Amino acid sequence: MSQAPAPITVPHHVAIIMDGNGRWAKSRGLPRIEGHRRGVETVRTTTFAARDLGVKMLTLYAFSVENWKRPQDEVGGLMSLLEYYLQKELDTFIRDRVRLRTIGRTHELPAGVQKVLRTTIEATAHFTDCTLVLALNYGSRTEVVDAARAYAAAVAAGKEKLNDNSYASFSRYLSTADLPDPDLVIRTSGETRISNFLLLQAAYAEFVFTPTLWPDFTKADLASAIAEYNRRERRFGLTSEQLKSSAATK
Ligand code: IPE
Ligand code: IPE
Ligand code: MG
Repeated sequence: MSQAPAPITVPHHVAIIMDGNGRWAKSRGLPRIEGHRRGVETVRTTTFAARDLGVKMLTLYAFSVENWKRPQDEVGGLMSLLEYYLQKELDTFIRDRVRLRTIGRTHELPAGVQKVLRTTIEATAHFTDCTLVLALNYGSRTEVVDAARAYAAAVAAGKEKLNDNSYASFSRYLSTADLPDPDLVIRTSGETRISNFLLLQAAYAEFVFTPTLWPDFTKADLASAIAEYNRRERRFGLTSEQLKSSAATK
């Protein structure tokens, strides 16, 4: 008799470094912005694919602190696309009960983007099933510096005790303070680097790299990354034997 397949563990929090829009456009002789436009479509389809597959939280790296250094017209185009996407998606977020959150220095984004972000975040704040976190003007090093400054101010104000310092207390000053760590980090486009994304939070995440360019990323690609995640053993510093014996006694 054949054994029933082991049930799939769906990672609670999936984070994606969406990469390859420029190469997607270049390979078709199109301007880079066309790749970003298609990338926005993939943001939409991936949000719903994640929800369908049972992922509760999806973080998408949409714009890094380093991306301001790109040509001005590309940065402007990306900001316009972001504003347009958020305006267009508001009704869908409400219909599908998706809560929107952001991480990153959003106060440095153009006023129009900040306004539509505020509206969407407020309108979806009460949803609890599914959360989409957009990393906007995000970079881990900037985030750590901002957190260290806020932590030092809290110590000076007597709200934190320097001697009690621990990662648990420090992490409350990160922009991810109330978000769980990612379980699975996916990067598209064949690059195998982290590019200043969730450096602390991904300390024990599993990484899956796929050659697929972001505009071509589908629900099947997400499902295959989740299947790969299921083939991994997350040991958190323990031995494999320890994990197996603790699972057996559960
Ligand atoms: C990812 O695609 C989108 C952003 C970083 C905003 P890229 O624009 O980095 O695409 P490539 O890496 O040039 O192909
Ligand atoms: C990382 O992609 C940033 C985002 C996906 C928003 P990049 O294309 O900017 O990363 P590098 O420059 O190749 O490392
Ligand atoms: Mg890139």
